[in-house]
Amino acid sequence: MRVKHKPALSEAALQVGRVDPVFVDVHSHVVPSGDDGAQSNEEGLELCRSAAQNGTTVLYATPHVWPMLPLPPEREETIRASHAELARAAAAFGLDLRLGFELTPTTALLEEDPNRFRLGDLPAVLMEVPFHGSLDLAERLAEHIEAVGLVPVIAHPERSQAVLDDQGLAAGMAERGWLLQVNATSIVGYHGAEIEASAWRLVDDGLAGLVASDGHRRARPPHLNEAFRAVQARLGEGADALFDGRALPAGDRVDLAERR
Ligand SMILES: [Fe+2]
Repeated sequence: MRVKHKPALSEAALQVGRVDPVFVDVHSHVVPSGDDGAQSNEEGLELCRSAAQNGTTVLYATPHVWPMLPLPPEREETIRASHAELARAAAAFGLDLRLGFELTPTTALLEEDPNRFRLGDLPAVLMEVPFHGSLDLAERLAEHIEAVGLVPVIAHPERSQAVLDDQGLAAGMAERGWLLQVNATSIVGYHGAEIEASAWRLVDDGLAGLVASDGHRRARPPHLNEAFRAVQARLGEGADALFDGRALPAGDRVDLAERR
C-alpha cells in the first residue's frame, strides 16, 4: 500500500514516503490440531496476537495433513471448532484468522476432493514438497489440485533437497502456474545458510510467488516483518507483492492455462 506524505505518518515512514503493506500470511500452525504446531488454544491465541502485533492482518492456519496424521471427520471437526473459537478472539485485536490445511503428498490424497483442503474460500490449496527424495508424488498431487480448478501453493520449495540440487525443478513448477511459497524463516537464515541462499535464488529469479511464515510456536512465531525488511532492502517496492496477498488467486475456479 503506497501512502503519500501525510502529517500523521511516523518519522520512519516519512523518510521513505510510504508505510509497510498489510501482511497476508497463508501458512501457519496456530490452530491446535495434534501436529507440531500450537498445542492449545491459549498458545494459538498468543501466536495470533503476536502475528497481529507484527503487521499481519490476514493469517491462514494450515494444520498438517500428514501420512501418519490424516484428516478423518473427527479431527476435522475438532480443528474447525478450535479455529472458530480462535477466529472470534483474534477478530477483537484486528486479525482475520482463516483456515486451510498443509498437505504432505500421499497417494491417498490423490483420491480425495482437493476442495476439502482449500485455503479458506480461495481457489487454492497449500501443499508441501518433501525435504528429501523425488518430487514426483508432489507433482501428481499438484496436478490433482489443478485438475479441479484450484491453484497449488507449493510450501517452502527452497527447503527441498531436489530443488537445492536443481533449481530448474522450481522453475518448472512456477511455469505451470503453481505458486511457490518461500518461508520467511528461510529468508532470515533460521534454517541455515544453504536454505537461506536457496530462498534468495527463488526471490532473485522471480520464481517465488509469495512469502509466508510457516509459524509453529513461540520460538518460530508467525511473523513476516523481518523477512519483509530483508526483501524490501533487495527489491524495494517489488517486495510488497510477495507479502500483501495480491499474488493469491480470486474467484471460485482458476484456469491455470491462463496463468502461464
Ligand atoms: Fe507448515
